Amino acid sequence: MRTLRFHEFGAPLDVLRLEDTAPPTPGPGQIRVVVQTCGLTPADWALCDGLFPGDLPRGIGLEVSGTVDALGDGVTGVEIGEPVLGPAPFTGPTAGASEQALLDIWFPRPPGLDPTAAAALPMAVETACRGLEQLGIRTGDSVLIHGAGTTVGYAAVQMAVRHGARVIATAGKTYADALRAAGAEVTGYGDGMVERVRTLAGGAVDLTLDAAPFSNVLPDLIRTVEAPAHVFSFAPPGSTNELGINLGRPDAPLRHEAIGEYAQLASEGRFSVPVAGTFALEDWRTAAAASLSGHAHGKLVLQIS
Ligand SMILES: NC(=O)c1ccc[n+]([C@@H]2O[C@H](COP(=O)([O-])OP(=O)(O)OC[C@H]3O[C@@H](n4cnc5c(N)ncnc54)[C@H](OP(=O)(O)O)[C@@H]3O)[C@@H](O)[C@H]2O)c1
Repeated sequence: MRTLRFHEFGAPLDVLRLEDTAPPTPGPGQIRVVVQTCGLTPADWALCDGLFPGDLPRGIGLEVSGTVDALGDGVTGVEIGEPVLGPAPFTGPTAGASEQALLDIWFPRPPGLDPTAAAALPMAVETACRGLEQLGIRTGDSVLIHGAGTTVGYAAVQMAVRHGARVIATAGKTYADALRAAGAEVTGYGDGMVERVRTLAGGAVDLTLDAAPFSNVLPDLIRTVEAPAHVFSFAPPGSTNELGINLGRPDAPLRHEAIGEYAQLASEGRFSVPVAGTFALEDWRTAAAASLSGHAHGKLVLQIS
């Protein structure tokens, strides 16, 4: 099968190779899928850069939609041929950007949810759900989602609205209107952001979620709330925290179960993660470059079969 993977750590566009290898064999509790679509995320590039040292080669592509083609020992409740979606494991010699992939965790892909929309969900849904939980969001809170044009932020806005929060969002122009339609008050993230947010909120917001840690505006975000601990950021593990913000518990459980719930909502047209574009597996460089630009404007999805 064709797979996108790296044999040494380094810059993604330098170390990634599209190559042929044997399909993986599902271990106990795993399924194998014929991959239809695979979402690409910043985590893929972090893996290439050495996020998790260990055995090589290592695959990329951490969110998958496909049809089941093999079951590992002990797997029940899913049939060969069934459409599923799920997160792909981070540390295998192949991952989701492959013609076949192993999954430890999967959910039925509901009728009405196409494979491209499905592959856009796992990472954004799990991360946004975990972030809002770490933030401690409650019904009636006013919440700023900074970086609502990221896929994580876009998901978090919709989830926070469902929580019954008043949501203010910073985003670029691409999805500003869609975020307004989802129930957020939207402003730009450039100069004057703090003042614009405070004007919209009528003062400080209760909580702020930083879904764009790469924008490095934590001192500004702290000025949107009453106390630094009211800001949660997805800063990378091990980040220093002189500012006293909320970086979450290192042992916070992953919220994979949300993927099934939000896949159902997405199939009913009540939730979405925007897709910037779809690319053939052999065009992975174009997709990777768009993601690495920091301005993907939605999920980049490989169309594999
Ligand atoms: N800790 C975890 O478990 C975890 C898991 C997943 C992701 N993450 C992190 O979460 C963040 C979001 O990931 P993602 O995949 O959703 O990102 P993404 O979609 O690739 O983010 C790209 C988007 O960011 C927006 N953006 C660019 N510059 C910005 C700025 N200065 N301020 C605010 N927004 C800006 C742009 O949208 P607009 O200009 O159109 O608004 C762009 O399309 C990343 O930093 C990622 O590493 C963490």
